Amino acid sequence: MHPDIAIVPMGLGHLRQVIDLGYQVFDTHAKPYTSWSLTSVAEHLDSAGKSCWVAVDSDRVVGFVLASMEFELREDWAYLEWIAVSPDVQGHGIASKLMTACCDLLFRHGAARIVTDVENHNTASATMMRRNGFTEGTTVTLFVRPNPDETIAGDDEQVTLGPGTKRDLIRRGRITGDGRHGRLPR
Ligand SMILES: CC(C)(COP(=O)(O)OP(=O)(O)OC[C@H]1O[C@@H](n2cnc3c(N)ncnc32)[C@H](O)[C@@H]1OP(=O)(O)O)[C@@H](O)C(=O)NCCC(=O)NCCS
Repeated sequence: MHPDIAIVPMGLGHLRQVIDLGYQVFDTHAKPYTSWSLTSVAEHLDSAGKSCWVAVDSDRVVGFVLASMEFELREDWAYLEWIAVSPDVQGHGIASKLMTACCDLLFRHGAARIVTDVENHNTASATMMRRNGFTEGTTVTLFVRPNPDETIAGDDEQVTLGPGTKRDLIRRGRITGDGRHGRLPR
């Protein structure tokens, strides 16, 4: 990692740049990134068990990770929901440094497990997660039945969840991010 880049806790002063970087790297028209929003970031910052970090190069935010101790109904499982690094500095170990800071704090918060989800085709993210001690758990595929009477622009991937909806579903154990690791049907 470049010596000028530091990993520090995210504060309100980083909010604008974090939002903008998210919109730059996440395709918010496609799952699982549809819930990227100011609300989503603010919820993390408001969470008592938060672990939110930024990578900064001087005053510029070049990466972030947002996680908290909120996962389904388990108090001892943490959820790492968002991580991103600016395209011009990817591949230099910044995400791994963010992961180390983030996971260390979650374990200190008392996490027995940290859960995250990775979209099927996101090789960079999947490799990065494996390099940082994550192994694949249950895979759940989201099945979608569109209303035949509605003309929806785009294909069936364009399912829009309103701000907070994804996190609500996660809290109730119906999905985790892109539907992975959801609670097994009884
Ligand atoms: C995923 C992402 C955060 C990785 O950031 P990064 O700073 O480039 O990652 P690192 O440099 O720390 O790399 C960590 C490991 O991931 C692997 N990796 C990183 N980018 C990769 C790529 N494009 N293809 C394959 N493996 C990759 C590397 O093998 C690396 O391990 P190694 O150096 O020991 O070999 C970055 O690609 C990104 O911001 N993507 C867009 C946002 C996103 O998809 N976020 C995840 C979902 S929320």
